[in-house]
Amino acid sequence: MFGICYYPEQCLPAQWPADARMMAELGLKYVRIAEFSWSRLEPTDGELDFAWLDTVIDTLAAQGLEVVIGTPTATPPKWLIDKWPEVLAVDPHTGRSRGFGSRRHYDFSSTRYWLESERITGELARRYGSHDAVVGWQTDNELGCHDTTVSASSRARDAFRKWCKKHYCTIDALNAVWGNVFWSMEYRDFDEIELPVGTVTEPNPAHSLAFRRFSSDQAIAYHQRMTEIIRDHAPEKFVTHNFIPMNETGFDNWSLAETLDFASYDNYPLGRTDIQFAGLPAEQFRRYMRTGHPDFATYYHDQTRGLSGGGFWIMEQQPGPVNWAPNNPRPAPGMIRFWTLEAFAHGADCVCFFRWRQAAFAQEQMHAGLLRPDNSKSEAWAQVAQSIAEVESLACLAYTAHVAHVAIITDAQGQWVTDIERQSEAYDFNTVQLSYYRALRELGLDVDFISSQSDFSPYKMIVAPCLPIVDADFVERIQTAEAVFIFGPRAGSKTADFSHPVNLAPGLLQDILPLQILSVETLRADCPELLHWNNQQYDSTIWREEVECKGGEVLARYDDGKAAVIADGRFIYLATLTDQQFLKEFFASRCIGLGIPVINWGEDIRIRRRGNLVFAFNYSEQTRKLTLPENTRFLLGEINLKPRDVAVWTELDQTP
Ligand code: GAL
Repeated sequence: MFGICYYPEQCLPAQWPADARMMAELGLKYVRIAEFSWSRLEPTDGELDFAWLDTVIDTLAAQGLEVVIGTPTATPPKWLIDKWPEVLAVDPHTGRSRGFGSRRHYDFSSTRYWLESERITGELARRYGSHDAVVGWQTDNELGCHDTTVSASSRARDAFRKWCKKHYCTIDALNAVWGNVFWSMEYRDFDEIELPVGTVTEPNPAHSLAFRRFSSDQAIAYHQRMTEIIRDHAPEKFVTHNFIPMNETGFDNWSLAETLDFASYDNYPLGRTDIQFAGLPAEQFRRYMRTGHPDFATYYHDQTRGLSGGGFWIMEQQPGPVNWAPNNPRPAPGMIRFWTLEAFAHGADCVCFFRWRQAAFAQEQMHAGLLRPDNSKSEAWAQVAQSIAEVESLACLAYTAHVAHVAIITDAQGQWVTDIERQSEAYDFNTVQLSYYRALRELGLDVDFISSQSDFSPYKMIVAPCLPIVDADFVERIQTAEAVFIFGPRAGSKTADFSHPVNLAPGLLQDILPLQILSVETLRADCPELLHWNNQQYDSTIWREEVECKGGEVLARYDDGKAAVIADGRFIYLATLTDQQFLKEFFASRCIGLGIPVINWGEDIRIRRRGNLVFAFNYSEQTRKLTLPENTRFLLGEINLKPRDVAVWTELDQTP
């Protein structure tokens, strides 16, 4: 299934019928509308105007198109801000109110904004909740985008004080667990608590973590309320949200997704690659400049599938150059189709493109669409048409998302703890997690993302790249699970309130890992040291822990002979960050031991299964011969996989 993001309020009504006709002719099914249209839905306070939206929906429906309405709360209009300036969030970095004139300027802690959001969401949901052509709803737009989950307003401060009281009950308890005696930071009353912003040097990390949790809770509670309102009026319709990269939302993605029918992701491979891999030397970066990094889009697809618990949507997909990254190259020929098939391979049920027509005015004029501003077809058009035909002929949707043998545990707390206490400028939660994912993917493995509360039983191997806070329930459940668990450094290294565990790291994990971390050192990324495993040498880099082993088996050692990787039965602990080669070979050896088939596909070929379909993607500029039996029958492509091309075969053919 395919869809499009459409902004009818940005063009003349005379254009709507032609747009709808062309959308239907292209083979699109869904049209997402209205998520930024508050100033047209309610031009002044209380004066609602739905007539134009009625016409838009009817015009689309007349072509057999189905509508997804985005609630417009990401863009409160000028009259609302003027009437209630307290809805504006305050930027924690500058202490200034977020200004009107773009989007996401609201504060999750503004009671007034809750009321206004409930009102406009309720009006829309009442009007269109049972409309036949409106099949689903998108809540808001990209919650947390532009770093907007946290607000340093007085509303946030007051709500934070209440949140602290609820969580810690007495101020003495809060002072004790935060360790406020440290720099005479003790409070006498909850009403004295300030937000951890604007301090001379670092605030107490326990204070910062509590504030991150609070900010996350505020966003989730707001979102949950909006979801309830939609469901009250549209009980038969789906509700989704379009996530930005999960490491950028600032909230607990698992909790936010709980109230949704499925999660959606906005996929901008080039823009995101330009930002994430900005530090790579030019000769390496250039390889992926027009394709995106081979693991970067799917890293988020796989996380979105995890949040969904199954199928998911790409609500927005890049159709050409974007406008918001430091550099905005054109995708290599064929990449729009390539990314589309990639999303379906990873379990997407629908891919929508952003946007129908390139904007002639305002902020995103340089962002491509399927049409240019003069309505001529852009280069994405033919690729979208091709993708629609191919996805249909492959019958992708007949196959449900495939459960992998291997899962990665991810959570927001790992991100928050390691953002707050980095200890090395090179230690970055997302880079660490992505490096583990990349190693697994290069081995041809399908990877699921799960939370520490998920069911572990489907998996043979579970990897936790960064899990600093664990609880007793988790430790109990992994003891009764059957999977092999591999923990990256920092696992179990903090209590829930950001202190050392009394028994030192890995804290509660000492129940299953007979070791203690005596100290930690961090190193410049360009000053690695040797790591020895399996008679080979690798790099230990950035993060190095000194381990006292009380049992188990030392699998890998630092150059000075001390333990670096320790195993005890099903549990393995990596006390250091390593190079990619180590991760890959180490994971491969574990998988082979567990009977999980691995093939080293190398840097540029990626494999993904969807039911019986097996997809291969060639990210390189060269034709690559796939290591498959010569008699493999291809549904798409061939054994000699061309540059930036896709091949598909069925699993049965894979048996040699
Ligand atoms: C997304 C956003 C869209 C648009 C797009 C441009 O993050 O949801 O509204 O701004 O980026 O790439």
